[in-house]
Amino acid sequence: MKKINSRRAFIEKGLKLGLVLPLAGTRLLASNPILNFQKAPKPRPSGKLNILILGGTSFLGPHQIAYALKQGHSVTTFTRGKTKPTIYRDLFEKVTSLTGDRANDLTALENGTWDAVIDNSGHNAEWTKRSAALLKDRAGLYLYTSSTGVYYPYLGKNIKEDAQLLLVEPEGIEDEEMKLEYWYGVMKSNSEIAAGAEFGEDRTIVVRPTYMVGPADKSDRFIHWPVRLAKGGEILVPGKKNDPVQYIDVRDVAEWMIRLIEERKTGTFNAVGPKRSQNMYSFVKEAGKAFDVNSSLIYVDDYKFLKEQHINNLIPWIMPEGNNTGSARVNNKKGIKAGLSFRNLQDTIKDTYDWWYSDALTDERRDKFEQNPEAVLLREKAVLGAWKRYEKN
Ligand SMILES: NC(=O)c1ccc[n+]([C@@H]2O[C@H](COP(=O)([O-])OP(=O)(O)OC[C@H]3O[C@@H](n4cnc5c(N)ncnc54)[C@H](OP(=O)(O)O)[C@@H]3O)[C@@H](O)[C@H]2O)c1
Repeated sequence: MKKINSRRAFIEKGLKLGLVLPLAGTRLLASNPILNFQKAPKPRPSGKLNILILGGTSFLGPHQIAYALKQGHSVTTFTRGKTKPTIYRDLFEKVTSLTGDRANDLTALENGTWDAVIDNSGHNAEWTKRSAALLKDRAGLYLYTSSTGVYYPYLGKNIKEDAQLLLVEPEGIEDEEMKLEYWYGVMKSNSEIAAGAEFGEDRTIVVRPTYMVGPADKSDRFIHWPVRLAKGGEILVPGKKNDPVQYIDVRDVAEWMIRLIEERKTGTFNAVGPKRSQNMYSFVKEAGKAFDVNSSLIYVDDYKFLKEQHINNLIPWIMPEGNNTGSARVNNKKGIKAGLSFRNLQDTIKDTYDWWYSDALTDERRDKFEQNPEAVLLREKAVLGAWKRYEKN
């Protein structure tokens, strides 16, 4: 999932290139015995792996790299050279970087062998098809970074990996936000299929994270909570008490992906936390323990009022209505069985807060969020005032 703001930004940048693959009743990761590969390199006996990351310099990538290097593996990245890492900068000296463009220049990937490819930058099913086809005889495994967005619209109550995928964008959707959700889900589903069709089921790993949060997040979707909780005072908590929430620390995803590769655990997995189901109220109470400040939580539990205030989500909370009814009801059991583990929420909050106020970010970047008149952070006092009046009537 993961999305609301970032997907929009993505589209606005004009990256929505023609993309959907023809599908004709495809099931996920149909294996093709002809493509099951004698040529792919066998894992090295040393256990040290040579990993190619398509992407690697933004949010998830640097955490994957940090963990992979710690494990003694070597890493190559493939990017356009535009996005510079903001964390672990010194580690990138140990990384081989290849330059090209997934849209039209894969020359740098024409030579070389790797134990595994991680496809983070797959934002077009055709891109994934092309890179997987190019690498399938020179790489052992292909890990596609997908999203729980493949389940959109989220109508289920317990969404497992074998749920029906979103394969085609429906016609006639007017709402722009919803269109984007459909586009993203279709793109991710078809990319998964493209990866599996080239590498075969027994060499493909698909990981579907929900909202990833933590240091280096560029989306500004979650930073509200670390920044706001640290200030204390009267804190607006949107949603009904039992509204479920799901999120995952980016580092838990990154490290687990490397472990899946190390252990050659192929298959498709949701990457969703927390371990046990959590509602919005317990999320905020737990998260608040990261800071030693006095605060009182004001529960604003009337959806009509929240809509009037233009608060439909405050990640990890999303109003669980319509197409989003089950967005925080994705099952994580298969992932946990395959080794997915979760760090403490307070560590996530604290580390994200520390990163936000570190020199990884400029003041201008922080102000863009903290001084944004549309963000709940700045509107909170006014909304709470309106809420108190609303409750009296
Ligand atoms: N954030 C979430 O909550 C969330 C949730 C679920 C799934 N996901 C998925 O997680 C993945 C990870 O994203 P991330 O940004 O954290 O990954 P990342 O690997 O840290 O960064 C994205 C990389 O893609 C490269 N890139 C972009 N366009 C490219 C192009 N045309 N050709 C070559 N390289 C290109 C960028 O470098 P250059 O700009 O230099 O090319 C950058 O290195 C995405 O697929 C996303 O859909 C995210």
